[in-house]
Amino acid sequence: MTQTFASLPQPIENAIVSILSERDTSELDTKAHELHNKYTAQDKGNHKSYFQDFESTVAYLALRVPATYAQSYATIANVHELVPSWQPKTILDIGSGPGTAIWAASEIWPSLTDATAIEQHNSLVSLGKQIATTAELSIATTWLRQDIREGIDEDDTTYDVVIIANVLNELSTTAADKLIGQALNKTSGVLVIVEPGTPAGSVIVQNAAKKLGKAGNLLAPYINNTFFNDDNYYLHFSQKFIRPEFQRRLRQQMRESSLMASDWEDAKYTYTIISKLAPEITPWGRCVGPIQVQKGFLEIPVLTKDGIEKIKVMKRYREQYNSAKNVKWGDVVSLPYEPQ
Ligand SMILES: C[S@@+](CC[C@H](N)C(=O)[O-])C[C@H]1O[C@@H](n2cnc3c(N)ncnc32)[C@H](O)[C@@H]1O
Repeated sequence: MTQTFASLPQPIENAIVSILSERDTSELDTKAHELHNKYTAQDKGNHKSYFQDFESTVAYLALRVPATYAQSYATIANVHELVPSWQPKTILDIGSGPGTAIWAASEIWPSLTDATAIEQHNSLVSLGKQIATTAELSIATTWLRQDIREGIDEDDTTYDVVIIANVLNELSTTAADKLIGQALNKTSGVLVIVEPGTPAGSVIVQNAAKKLGKAGNLLAPYINNTFFNDDNYYLHFSQKFIRPEFQRRLRQQMRESSLMASDWEDAKYTYTIISKLAPEITPWGRCVGPIQVQKGFLEIPVLTKDGIEKIKVMKRYREQYNSAKNVKWGDVVSLPYEPQ
């Protein structure tokens, strides 16, 4: 079941606060602004790198990481829900940044003991190491500074979990296709691909699912291993998180009005999970959008193995209606509307 909030764990938030306390605030503000403009630019795909220097990676940590944590957390929680007894031990995080997805995976699977993080920027590797030490993370992490376009290591090591979060959109289509194939070869359990919940992110994720689906089970968000694609519908999800104080401050100073920046945010994301494990649970459907409250009924958009259906739950069936009210965007639903 989708969490109401997926916020950074306190030790990690504290570690980031400690890093930020050593930086020059006005420089951080400028870099955060620049980063924000790059992320919202129309020609987003043309930016080969968002980071020019150490300060811009610190700005990423303060401005973006709380949201990317929420995206990875929500996605990994979906895996856990479908294979609840599975206790993975190893994880490979490709394009790890400071190790955001490793933090999220460790929260959901305390069984994880070893992580490998591949990242091209030295500054993100050193920030990741500093956070892991300050937050006293128990997972042992090996950091590889590497350009993933040149291939990930060719030895036979495989990992229970392989995750690529918010990375494919920074690669050319050819490089992304090559990477996902290599990533699947490194996977013994699940390959998790996460992208921002934009139409472009959805296309990237759908293409990956289509290409890799034959080599594994499409565990989620699809139902019963059945790929769904509709060019008129972009599949995405939503996960709220509480903004840490440092992020709220940055958001505040970016605002043109003096109205207070919100203390929470809705991170939109899209994902696919290709699994070499058999699912323990095969849901009937998954809620793929906000629930509409209509006069006398609720309307829930649900992805089933047959496509998207809008399920109506009548108010007069009180028990069913009350149960359906608790369904959240992203949740699996059992026949035909009860949240699991
Ligand atoms: C938007 S960040 C996402 C970081 C992290 N996965 C997260 O979700 O917070 C994209 C990351 O991919 C890394 N990346 C992009 N292209 C890469 C490449 N060719 N080789 C290695 N890392 C790369 C970037 O340096 C950056 O840290």
